[in-house]
Amino acid sequence: MSEQHPVKFSRREFVRRSGAGLLGLGLTGAALPAACDTESGGEAFGITHGPVVQSPGPGEVTVTWHTNRNGVSNVLYGTDGQLDHVAVTSRDGLIPNDSTCHAVRLTGLVPGKAFQYQLISREFKKYVSPYVVKFGEIVESETFTCTPLDPVKESFSFLMWNDIHDDSRRLEAMFEDVAWEGVDFVVLNGDILNDFISQEQFFSAFYDACSRRFGSSLPMVYVRGNHETRGPWARRLSDFVPGRDGRPYYAFNHGNVHVVALDSGEDKPDDNKEYAGLVEFASFRDEQTRWLQADLESEAAQRARFRIILSHQPMAPVGTECFGAQEVRRLWRGPVNAAGAHLWLSGHTHDFAWCKPGEDGDNRFHAMTNPPDATVRVDVAPEALQVAVIQKGGAVLYQGTIPA
Ligand SMILES: [Fe+2]
Repeated sequence: MSEQHPVKFSRREFVRRSGAGLLGLGLTGAALPAACDTESGGEAFGITHGPVVQSPGPGEVTVTWHTNRNGVSNVLYGTDGQLDHVAVTSRDGLIPNDSTCHAVRLTGLVPGKAFQYQLISREFKKYVSPYVVKFGEIVESETFTCTPLDPVKESFSFLMWNDIHDDSRRLEAMFEDVAWEGVDFVVLNGDILNDFISQEQFFSAFYDACSRRFGSSLPMVYVRGNHETRGPWARRLSDFVPGRDGRPYYAFNHGNVHVVALDSGEDKPDDNKEYAGLVEFASFRDEQTRWLQADLESEAAQRARFRIILSHQPMAPVGTECFGAQEVRRLWRGPVNAAGAHLWLSGHTHDFAWCKPGEDGDNRFHAMTNPPDATVRVDVAPEALQVAVIQKGGAVLYQGTIPA
């Protein structure tokens, strides 16, 4: 997907641009189902999935949701209950009207200050001619509240799951194993989908569960795994999980932590017969290596007290067979070690492992792989990271402290 650009203008300007159809748009805070649509078999145009807030950045989040038919969307937002700002998304100058996936980036948010937002979607029916278009009904959601991340916050927690492989029941059960107090964002570290076969699978595998539990209020950091690169919908994953600035890898600061989300791609060489000549992850990982080196040398990374790396595939121990994890080791271990990273969280192996500094040559960081049936909770305080791995059902599998 091409890079998308948020467009912001005043509420008054928004209404003027939007035409008479939006003038009657009430801000009641209640969902208003669209009128019955006789041209579409009677099913009213509506919001069917979401919201899930994703891909946090400095004073930024992307709000995602889905409708049952193609639409044009906006987000009304503001603080102290005033929805006096409007954001829309454009792609190469054009506002999307051809998708049921909606992703609107909000920028310029005040770190740590809660804001309210409302989803607005208007059905786009068709082009009568290039200059005459036909819209349908408008739907608006209830009002939600989210808090942007705050780089100077003293203490916070985050949660991580991985390798769900479509089993949303397991994921939802693990939601109940942990305390959510103090949690500021959620990481899904790859292979959440077991190959991207159908659009509905995306919702049933995890998105609806996340939307119900935390999606409207806590940013989700989605790290692509090797299974999300497979299947007929894999090339449209970014419509559902937009990443940041058109890329699936990015970094952000929160609570004195610099978090880096990397995309380790497929787990076998590009010329493996399973990929039918349709992948090219070697240059993609090289591109990330260049980006990672610059990112870890940035002021944002260096001024943070802690640096945490996320990648679905872990850094393989020397001598193991897994190609993808060997590439992760070959390309990214050096920059991560040089940057003085504290913790590297992964999945993929379906086994628990914890490698402490000095246990893998000259590594200075802790590296952990989390199994598919466990939750990682990281509690960040000025003096240390407290990491707990909680087995499904609530038993503590591992607890560790990583000093600053
Ligand atoms: Fe994997």
